[in-house]
Amino acid sequence: MTHRKSWAEPWKIKMVEHLTMTSREDRIKAIEEAGYNTFLLRSDDVYIDLLTDSGTNAMSDRQWSGMMLGDEAYAGSRNFYHLEDAIREHYSYKHIIPTHQGRGAEHMMSQILIKDGDYLPGNMYFTTTRLHQELAGGTFVDVIIDDAHDTESDHPFKGNVSLEKLEDLINKVGAEKIPYVCLATAVNMAGGQPISMGNLKEVRELTNKHGIDIVHDMTRVAENAWLIKEREPGYADKSVKEIVFEICSLTDHATMSAKKDPLVNIGGFMATNDEDVYRKAQNMVVVYEGLHTYGGMAGRDMEALAIGIAESVQDDHMRSRVGQTQYLGEKLIKYGVPIVNPIGSHGVFLDAKKFLPHLSQDVFPAQTLAAEIYIESGVRSMERGIVSAGRNKETGDHNRPNLELVRLTLPRRVYTQAHMDVVAESIADVYDRRAEITGLKFTYEPEYLRFFQARFEPIA
Ligand code: F0G
Repeated sequence: MTHRKSWAEPWKIKMVEHLTMTSREDRIKAIEEAGYNTFLLRSDDVYIDLLTDSGTNAMSDRQWSGMMLGDEAYAGSRNFYHLEDAIREHYSYKHIIPTHQGRGAEHMMSQILIKDGDYLPGNMYFTTTRLHQELAGGTFVDVIIDDAHDTESDHPFKGNVSLEKLEDLINKVGAEKIPYVCLATAVNMAGGQPISMGNLKEVRELTNKHGIDIVHDMTRVAENAWLIKEREPGYADKSVKEIVFEICSLTDHATMSAKKDPLVNIGGFMATNDEDVYRKAQNMVVVYEGLHTYGGMAGRDMEALAIGIAESVQDDHMRSRVGQTQYLGEKLIKYGVPIVNPIGSHGVFLDAKKFLPHLSQDVFPAQTLAAEIYIESGVRSMERGIVSAGRNKETGDHNRPNLELVRLTLPRRVYTQAHMDVVAESIADVYDRRAEITGLKFTYEPEYLRFFQARFEPIA
């Protein structure tokens, strides 16, 4: 019999960053000043920051040493060529256009490929992605499998596309009105849920038949690859690196927020195998981002990104990355706290409808719960429910997503298992006093991506 079952991080800590400890009174004052929106808190008022895994990663000593090799030439920086090589080697795409972050790539991709009146099927919406599709004149259509909208379903690949829904859309509006299918890996809004390689291959076959492209939102592709390795028959002996390459090879274009998987704090890119799309993007990037050999990034940032891409596809890295998320999820389950099943890759998602069953969706249960968790513990989380879903662009009503979630998102290589214990215990304490919690109402609602800057007050 062997005792060893645990994984541990494939790194040790060289430098530490001190955290702020706050009192309950401090936190009540801070959340009031922030309009009960965790996006509006000052980071100095936060103890454990699980707002997002975006740009919050810890870089390695190798990445930091890469920063010193930054070639800050305006044109033709050597770091751009390193980045281009890393993308071709790991992600298969031929052409890349660097951008300041993911939404810069989404903007160009949408403006280049979408015509007024087009439809964009996707495996669940993402906030910025859908907005750029709409600003380009398109309409997003959700074609993810129904299981993805059910927090209790334990389907291992909740990121899968329903081929039936996709075919129905093609038959209804015609393939010529569908420039591409937008495929996300490790679907964020569904709870970090993967798409299977089998499903991706079927989507490729169907889209090929109709001459429809696939745009890959590859923000968390390596996390998806890890879950394929763990869950999909035939992939246990393949490396994350091989699986990532295979996923990318099945798609035509990609948008990347490098602030996630690739372990840097800022950056992104658009990639494509299509010469014509590449030429158009090169033309656009100089208007909106910067020259085509830096986009919105400094040379040193591109170097750190090239190194981060290679580190992100290491099996040991992914085992501990996703292992930490699973650890937190399992602890919460032990306390009886309702979460999205199965536990995803980049975060644990609390089911606010089940956590606060006495609150209607109109009083923003997930927004309320995120504020309560902050008051209890100084842990910062994020609403992913009706506030994030925004309003219908035709009717002006709230979009009412089935999923009303609070996301506890884990920055990569930043917190320890002991931090996860504190998070789980604090949320269990909020759960014990859930019956006392009342909802919120808007005091200010911005027009675009309202969740970022909206303000609320408690319902009396
Ligand atoms: N696509 C996905 C799946 C994302 O999660 C994000 C960002 C983007 C695109 C946009 O990239 O922020 O670099 O412009 N998600 C962050 C989050 C904001 O917290 O989930 P960006």
